[in-house]
Amino acid sequence: MRPVSYEESVVTRLLEMITQADGHPPFSEHKRESIGGDRSRVGAWSDTTGLCVVGVAALHEANRRWSVEIAVAPDRRDPRMEEAAIRVAMGLVPHTADHTIWAFRTDQIEAAIRLGYREIRSVLRMAGTIPEEIDNAASRVTIGAMEEVDIGGLVAVNNRAFRGHPEQGAMTAEGFGSLVDRPWFDPAAVLVAKAGERVAGFCITKYAGNGIGEIFVIAVDPADQQSGIGRDLIGSGFDVLRSRGARTVHVWVDKANGAAVRFYASLGLADDFRTREFALS
Ligand SMILES: CC(C)(COP(=O)(O)OP(=O)(O)OC[C@H]1O[C@@H](n2cnc3c(N)ncnc32)[C@H](O)[C@@H]1OP(=O)(O)O)[C@@H](O)C(=O)NCCC(=O)NCCS
Repeated sequence: MRPVSYEESVVTRLLEMITQADGHPPFSEHKRESIGGDRSRVGAWSDTTGLCVVGVAALHEANRRWSVEIAVAPDRRDPRMEEAAIRVAMGLVPHTADHTIWAFRTDQIEAAIRLGYREIRSVLRMAGTIPEEIDNAASRVTIGAMEEVDIGGLVAVNNRAFRGHPEQGAMTAEGFGSLVDRPWFDPAAVLVAKAGERVAGFCITKYAGNGIGEIFVIAVDPADQQSGIGRDLIGSGFDVLRSRGARTVHVWVDKANGAAVRFYASLGLADDFRTREFALS
């Protein structure tokens, strides 16, 4: 296998073929969005049959850790190739930098384990039909679309609710600004729960136009949790997604986040996909 230049059209063809074969894109949305940015590195490798491996490494500002995802051509997969693909893609990470690998295919997971990696985290996608109505005793907050004045409170709630979370736990107003710059971001699709003037929680929804909406982030201030605010917020988020044409909803959640997993399950969502993060033992 030898490194080749990253030609977008050729890479895109391979990634589409892999998506068809696996029923899921090889790269997460975070990786896809990071390509071309100054905090990511990409690589492509060919063997005698042509392009067979593509890797993306991206730096997470919050924990200063690189994470890597690796796509392998379906017709080239075997245990040796899976290991070789991980080895070459690891070369994208700056020397000595802390790094992890994300994998969801069994063959890739087994190759990572053979190379000395161990699972440190598991993330579920939970999915379901958007419920028409949510049964909830009215909480004591008002819910409305985000306004500029809410941003400081929203960032503070985010950091308290996600304290210790590897990517989400240290948001800054600047970090929120980069979210706002994403092409899908719409302030009207961000709901804020307020107790008087105070932000008690928020829910960022996302709709890409294919009938599937996403609860991108939902958080309630720890002091206000388990009083029905999350249910009120997600109910309003579902209304926004439904009004835009979504019928199904996806959320991504750490498997270890029992409160959130139970919260989503209580709304009828069930896990339908799982990806795992590996670090060197
Ligand atoms: C997940 C979260 C938004 C839920 O908000 P909330 O306001 O506490 O939730 P609600 O009070 O509306 O609870 C609704 C249901 O969720 C479930 N639930 C919520 N918190 C729970 C907990 N700590 N343990 C078990 N079940 C819980 C229960 O089924 C509950 O219904 P019930 O009160 O009738 O038992 C909140 O826990 C939170 O902000 N967590 C930190 C951030 C986070 O993890 N966000 C999701 C990331 S994907």
